[in-house]
Amino acid sequence: MSLPFDFADGVLHAERVSLASLAEQFGTPLYVYSRAALETAYGAYANACAGRRATVHVAVKANSNLAVLNVFARAGAGFDIVSAGELTRALKAGASADKIVFSGVGKTADEMRTALRVGVKCFNVESIPELDRLNTVAGELGLRAPVSLRVNPDVDAKTHPYISTGLKSNKFGVAFEEARATYRSAARMKHLEVIGIDCHIGSQITQISPYLDALDKVLELVTQVESDGATIHHIDVGGGLGIRYDDEEPPEIGAFVRAILDRIAERGHAHREVLFEPGRSLVGNAGVLLTRVEYLKPGSAKNFAIVDAGMNDLARPSMYQAFHGIDAVVPRKGAASVYDIVGPVCESGDWLGRDRSLALEAGDVLAVRSAGAYGFVMSSNYNTRPRAAEIMVDGDQAHVVRARETVEQLLAGETILTA
Ligand code: LLP
Repeated sequence: MSLPFDFADGVLHAERVSLASLAEQFGTPLYVYSRAALETAYGAYANACAGRRATVHVAVKANSNLAVLNVFARAGAGFDIVSAGELTRALKAGASADKIVFSGVGKTADEMRTALRVGVKCFNVESIPELDRLNTVAGELGLRAPVSLRVNPDVDAKTHPYISTGLKSNKFGVAFEEARATYRSAARMKHLEVIGIDCHIGSQITQISPYLDALDKVLELVTQVESDGATIHHIDVGGGLGIRYDDEEPPEIGAFVRAILDRIAERGHAHREVLFEPGRSLVGNAGVLLTRVEYLKPGSAKNFAIVDAGMNDLARPSMYQAFHGIDAVVPRKGAASVYDIVGPVCESGDWLGRDRSLALEAGDVLAVRSAGAYGFVMSSNYNTRPRAAEIMVDGDQAHVVRARETVEQLLAGETILTA
């Protein structure tokens, strides 16, 4: 089978495992990942980086399941984390601390302490107050914190406003005009060691040009900062490469990586280490969400297929009006109708797909495609709905990599007043 999720004998499979049998055995809603798809995507980054001073730091936020992270750790990946929780996950999945970069605008002193103690590769810092805090915390521990400044190159990544991060109007990064002065401030802080520069201009980016525009600005800054006496060992270009959900045509991973490394070399910076922080492009199309049709509800304005997965399981459609392909796991031969695929949550915004032409009956299992990134990780317990189980398929084997949550677990931390 060529694709990780493809039909064989009229049934959608993950590698060599029938998704119909997984839904039967483990119930729905169910996240299913393909190990081969994860390895193929990682391999595309790793191959394009081979022979260059370039490394891949998997953005844990996109999919933080331990088994998923472990597949990448075994392949030699580094990680990009944004919390102490993600740090714990990455280490538990087998990452070495010196391959972990710590991003995020709101690091607490506790999180800094934890990351300093384990010895992360770099703190990607986003403001002067954060530099101050890190300097203090490192001083208390008698350490020097390795630091990169996240600069905001003010380029338009031409993506959804909620996931565009490189514009002036975003909360992220140090404004480009202030970056040089901020580096000078960092250089004066005794417990910091400036080692790099980073940027991240957004997510689901389907063109290379915004990256090259951002790079040109970042490289110009590198030259200025070094003329002020700092040494920039590495350039972290962030993540953000898009995937195909519908009819998008993002560049291939290899072409994307080479375009960036070539530009850096052309501009005379080939001696520097380059870091990539991909999330979605590694895991997005390596996962599906299985959900069962509970009821069909025909109407004069709309036909609804009410399924057992909702916005609490997959938030992207309701949150960003994101499109996810939806297929019946065992497509029926009969005439198709047009349905809105909606969840059981008590919100009108609880939908997974709109105006989908499908031949359906109650009880059918649907696969919501491209759900491997920002899927389970963004799920919630709204409506006291336990979170889905997660399965990793490897060839003809299926492994439960996260058990389905129970209502008892949800209530475990709650108490009522006794008087
Ligand atoms: N590095 C940094 C600093 C980031 O903020 C992000 C994602 C990444 C790397 C990974 O970006 P990726 O390669 O996955 O695009 N929840 C949204 C996406 C939010 C992305 C946040 N930052 C969604 O479902 O589309």
